[in-house]
Amino acid sequence: MLVKSAEFVCSNTQVEKLPAQDLPEYAFIGRSNVGKSSLINALTGKKNLAKTSQRPGKTQLINHFIINDNWYLVDLPGYGYAQTSKKNREEWGKFIRYYLTRRENLQCIFVLIDSRLEPQKIDLDFCCWLGEKGLPFMLIFTKGDKQSTVKSDQNMAKFKRALLKYFEEVPQRFLTSSEEKVGLDPILQTIDEINSG
Ligand code: GTP
Ligand code: MG
Repeated sequence: MLVKSAEFVCSNTQVEKLPAQDLPEYAFIGRSNVGKSSLINALTGKKNLAKTSQRPGKTQLINHFIINDNWYLVDLPGYGYAQTSKKNREEWGKFIRYYLTRRENLQCIFVLIDSRLEPQKIDLDFCCWLGEKGLPFMLIFTKGDKQSTVKSDQNMAKFKRALLKYFEEVPQRFLTSSEEKVGLDPILQTIDEINSG
């Protein structure tokens, strides 16, 4: 799929104020600083569409972008940001979980995982929660440029094995680098296929 247009629509903390659920929607989620906003910029070919930062906790709202005037891409705040208060973390949990479980036009949740790391409990727990809720998700491993492909593949395989303790099948997986614009086409193609039904 070619991204011909990508426009910011709105930022919200309240699910009630989100755009009408009349177009297919895809959300990007994962630990703080994993590279969600950077990936959205890489996928859309726009440098500053989603705000990125070296400092974790940059994205604080539910941000809607409309692509090719026919589907929504959503940038979410990251989870597991250690420097925030317990209360803030609980708030994150509540409003993001509320969004994810109520949004009927949500076609797929892309869970971003840092390809440099061994499987992390927080990511596995989050995948299990999605599984319990019956929410469709796929995995995107980020920052593939930061180490060898062999190392990334090893971490991806370990994550797959860890998930197989809880799931009969593992979801589709992608390895990306937003920095080097690698692995983006398969994600856009997958979205295109879902959109085409
Ligand atoms: P929050 O909004 O805080 O949850 O973070 P985020 O997941 O949106 O991460 P963001 O896209 O802001 O990126 C965090 C940092 O990682 C930035 O310094 C990015 O430049 C860097 N980064 C993101 N993707 C890549 C990548 O593919 N390769 C490299 N080398 N750095 C990346
Ligand atoms: Mg962000």
